[in-house]
Amino acid sequence: MSISKKQYSRVTTNSLSEMKRNGEKIAMLTAYDFTLAGIIDRAGIDIILVGDSASNVMAGHETTLPITLDQMIYHAASVVRGCKRALVIVDLPFGTYQADSKEALRSAIKIMKESGAHAVKLEGGKLAKDSIERILQAGIPVMGHLGLTPQSIYKFGTYSVRAKEEKEAKELMEDAKLLEDLGCFGIVLEKIPSGLAQKVAKNILTPIIGIGAGNKVDGQVLVLHDMLGMTKEFSPRFLRRYLDLDNKISSAIKSYSTDVKSGHFPSKDEQY
Ligand code: KIV
Repeated sequence: MSISKKQYSRVTTNSLSEMKRNGEKIAMLTAYDFTLAGIIDRAGIDIILVGDSASNVMAGHETTLPITLDQMIYHAASVVRGCKRALVIVDLPFGTYQADSKEALRSAIKIMKESGAHAVKLEGGKLAKDSIERILQAGIPVMGHLGLTPQSIYKFGTYSVRAKEEKEAKELMEDAKLLEDLGCFGIVLEKIPSGLAQKVAKNILTPIIGIGAGNKVDGQVLVLHDMLGMTKEFSPRFLRRYLDLDNKISSAIKSYSTDVKSGHFPSKDEQY
């Protein structure tokens, strides 16, 4: 069942602008594999992000920094094979676009060619300008990401709320405007005051997707494993858990184990 007002057989970057114009909120989630991507897609989510949060939730790293381009492509290609309707966006991982714009373009092209995804996302404003320009010139749609940008965690030193001070808020506003002027089709704003996010969403036409940025923006994104309740130790205020999957999976595994040990599985009907 689709939750959109208008039925989109395939969500495109143009559909997102149309949704913003029509006041329809955009729903976005992460995914990293074929099976879950298919479930999310069939449930009617507009955007699936193959986030570099795969580094945390799939590989168990403390930060997003270690994941490689080839690992991102492996996840992205699996997700693309599971999706018929959603727009699939892939994060450019740390170290694949910061050195220079030519490397950024090569990384983006590799993602598009080898995964079949529809767009890339990268972190940063004016410092990423040349890379964004070059990728866009090659015809690859780019989503920006401002506010708390996890690839810069060692610069920030903490995952706390960004842009609370006027100077950083002003810079963020300028960066958002720059991303719009460059031609980004969307911007993720992560963990910033809701008033500032609202101001950004009001002042630019580019769709703004928030995570920990309040509800006065054009859409929301969450990490799938967090909203399904699979990552118990991660509990920021912005996270709403829609399921307690950790407990549900655990109780199913315990029942299976008990049945195996007691000889109740398999039954007569479950054998040949
Ligand atoms: O990697 C990721 O999952 C993200 C979202 C948190 C926006 O960038």
